[in-house]
Amino acid sequence: MIILGMNETSHDASVSLIKDGKILFAAHAERYSKQKNDWYNNREIILDALNYGTPDVIAYYEKPLLKRSRIAIRGGASDWKPEFPLDIPVYYFKHHYSHAAAGYYTSKFDNACIVVLDAIGEFNTSTIWVGEGSKIKLKYKKNYPFSFGLFYSAFTKLIGLKPNEEEYIMMGMAAYGDWKRYYVKVNDYFKNINNQKYNFHKGIFDWDEPIDEQAKFDIAAAVQYVYELRLIEFMDMAKRLTGKDNLVFMGGCALNCAANTRLWEIFYDVWIMPNPGDAGSSLGAAAALYGQHIEWEHPYLGYDLGGEYPVDKIYDELMKNKIAAVATGRAEYGPRALGNRSILADPRQANIKDKVNKIKKREMFRPFAPVVMEEYAHEWFDISFPSPYMQYAVRCKKPSIIPSVVHKDGTSRVQTVNKNQHPGLYNLLDKFNKKTGVPILLNTSLNVKGQPLINDAQDILDWKAVYNYNIIS
Ligand SMILES: [Fe+2]
Repeated sequence: MIILGMNETSHDASVSLIKDGKILFAAHAERYSKQKNDWYNNREIILDALNYGTPDVIAYYEKPLLKRSRIAIRGGASDWKPEFPLDIPVYYFKHHYSHAAAGYYTSKFDNACIVVLDAIGEFNTSTIWVGEGSKIKLKYKKNYPFSFGLFYSAFTKLIGLKPNEEEYIMMGMAAYGDWKRYYVKVNDYFKNINNQKYNFHKGIFDWDEPIDEQAKFDIAAAVQYVYELRLIEFMDMAKRLTGKDNLVFMGGCALNCAANTRLWEIFYDVWIMPNPGDAGSSLGAAAALYGQHIEWEHPYLGYDLGGEYPVDKIYDELMKNKIAAVATGRAEYGPRALGNRSILADPRQANIKDKVNKIKKREMFRPFAPVVMEEYAHEWFDISFPSPYMQYAVRCKKPSIIPSVVHKDGTSRVQTVNKNQHPGLYNLLDKFNKKTGVPILLNTSLNVKGQPLINDAQDILDWKAVYNYNIIS
């Protein structure tokens, strides 16, 4: 049976296709429509998915009726009318169950605690599940308006950023702020996991102090601090309730890589599917319908540009200009570029960071991430587990050698690579290491701020025409 998984009518629409437990295709609508955080799927993404097989059924990531009743009873807004591209049976799964299924069924665990934290789906906003064998059972839930995600998004909005989109910028700003300045005030909004001040859905309206530039960074730091405190409380409860040592963490909150690192203090092993937010729920709905583990090999599941990984071309460009833009093979499923739609650069010079920020038109304070050969990761970073999907921020041990990939607080959001995971990227790092003694490159997504990642050949041509900058493909 071929299942078409879909999520739309909320930020980050996506489509997935699975057949007998194998993922054939998974991609984001925005990469096809060129509309960042596109709410809806489009003809192009559906046609691309159909290249990989003709679905028998559709699995949708929410229960529209339930969502409609939440909006009627408790407020909020959404376009809850999904449109289905084919006249085949449609099965609906609850929002949080789709998150849980995306995480647990792609994990290697047959026994795990599953935690889902996001802004809001239908009613649930914070859930704890137990995965045993092929069964997923709900253990605990908290409903709207309590919400970790809405708390974080409301402050994102308060400091002038775009909620539901630019939370990752606030997370980056936290390293530049003093959390103590606003700790008491921010903590008052979310005192413990049973005491949240009010409905954050529309933002924060009782902040009574002026917010100058430095205050934005200090608020970000306090919010990140309080978020981590409450996250740890919730995770401790989850472990206690389920009695499990393995954690599957899903929902938009699982994109907070600074907080994610702390989960390893509580659990023996952790799995965060590389696309844990709503965009990952098309795969979650498909997996929920399949009802058992699916084969997770890698996140290179989207549009296919074809070609071998151009190791020598990238290496030559790095030696010549220190920066190489690359688009090749299948696009990553998830918000991070992990080598196939990346800008790679020599991490040793501090000014490289400014050059790349200029190309990407980003704020100058924004940090970049390192990609490192897995076997050397512990020599360069304070890390004792693999991080193949850039999900954890850890302390860098040699910041003076690779300054362009170390954040203000001394941490780096590390991507580890081994031979099996991405042979091309691994060979490139190996070649760079043999020449320089550094098994690390700067790796950032191939896009301009506010635009989706490069997807297809037309995007490559457009990029070249507009930015006069070559992409290696
Ligand atoms: Fe969600």
